Amino acid sequence: MNGSMTNPAEPQVAHWHGFTQMADHDSLVIDRGEGCWLTTTDGQKLFDGVSSLWCNVHGHRHVKLDSAIREQLQRVAHVTTLGMSCQTTDDLAKRLTELTPGDLGHVFFSSDGSSAVEAALKMSFQYWQQREDPRPKKTRFLALGSAYHGDTTGAVSLGGIKYFHQLFSPILFSPVRGPIPCSYRVPAEIDVTPLEHYTNEIKVLLEKHHEELAAMVMEPLVQGAAGMITHPAGLLRNLRELCDHYNVLLICDEVATGFGRTGKMFACEHESVTPDILCIGKGLTGGYLPMAATVARPHVFNAFLARASDSRQFFHGHTFGGNPLAAAAAMASLDLLTEPSCLDRVSEKGEYLRNRIISELSDQPHVGDIRGRCMMLGIELVADRATRRPFPAEFQLGRSVCRRTVRNGVWIRPLGDVIILMPPLIATEAELDILATVVTESIKAETANLIEQNDSISSDASITHHE
Ligand SMILES: Cc1ncc(COP(=O)(O)O)c(C=O)c1O
Repeated sequence: MNGSMTNPAEPQVAHWHGFTQMADHDSLVIDRGEGCWLTTTDGQKLFDGVSSLWCNVHGHRHVKLDSAIREQLQRVAHVTTLGMSCQTTDDLAKRLTELTPGDLGHVFFSSDGSSAVEAALKMSFQYWQQREDPRPKKTRFLALGSAYHGDTTGAVSLGGIKYFHQLFSPILFSPVRGPIPCSYRVPAEIDVTPLEHYTNEIKVLLEKHHEELAAMVMEPLVQGAAGMITHPAGLLRNLRELCDHYNVLLICDEVATGFGRTGKMFACEHESVTPDILCIGKGLTGGYLPMAATVARPHVFNAFLARASDSRQFFHGHTFGGNPLAAAAAMASLDLLTEPSCLDRVSEKGEYLRNRIISELSDQPHVGDIRGRCMMLGIELVADRATRRPFPAEFQLGRSVCRRTVRNGVWIRPLGDVIILMPPLIATEAELDILATVVTESIKAETANLIEQNDSISSDASITHHE
């Protein structure tokens, strides 16, 4: 690369950021955080509108999380979970089995959401190979359109977001690809409800491929990285029934939706569904330390039990999986999340934020959709509301909106032209007001600028709101 674009002496250049074009990257460097606020080294205060990439639950420097980590530090910072353990991590595993839906009862720890998904893939594959009545042909996976499950190679193979994933196709396995169960862009020609339509499409795939499918993998209710694509209510429950019927494991990836984001501890609870395997991460430690987990039901776990000489143990394990400092943070975070009425308050705040956004933006000609669940919201900006036609990618509207919000004290990061709001769950209504005001004003100002410069763009028709 042309060396004139970068200065190797600059620390920002030494630090290569993920999903970030380094050639024109003007880094914000954070010095400290407090509650929902971050302070840069230049002294600018920013509201953390995406919870430090969707994981900060109780704000920064929460006294209970800080002291839980300090206490653990006085005992031991790290031990392996390969053949040994730490009491804090064992306690966390037990706690998670109590909090996760149904009979999910066996917790396999890793360090990030992608690894939790990798473990789920290998676990489900190995399960079919060695259960009492083995099905060795079950080696494939069904994944939804626009799926996102992380950036490791197995997780990318499941991924269906062209912009992120297509480049890597020569080194990936190919899943059976389902539809994008999007409530905003429902195919025009269907004569059934969106729920029936998407259920039927997936049923056809299961019917055709079930003998080769180890598992279906999905984000329940909301596909976050796809741009907060929100499924029709009831889809998750229908897919649980279909997976049971076709003898395919259901893996729910709650890395983004877990730990209160949707107003319940886990999104699956909204539809009373217990997946066979649940992937969790991000908010598990309150967003403090890298930790994730793959939680399995007994029928999965039991298929791995045998004499040591039978080589049926799960052939997988991460150096830092189950790290005690992270486990201590997770225990403290769960104490807070399970306090009486904590999640009810989160639901109320989610509704408050959504109503604020709707009241400010409903009549905006380039706001196509306001969607998501509770404290995970997406605002999609479109060139034409009637046809839902997006803006040309080169306009980079989402990016310019977020640049403006940062200038005005709110840190958010878009997904294309979908403006993502994922504030910490502890944000007060006054703080949500700041978030809503800055974001809606920035959307209005930046779309107005864009239209002024490109008078060929026009829009009419009315907005839709999807849950
Ligand atoms: C649904 C989902 N799965 C997996 C991941 C990957 O998690 P991580 O970035 O911790 O590897 C993410 C990250 O955004 C996610 O949203």
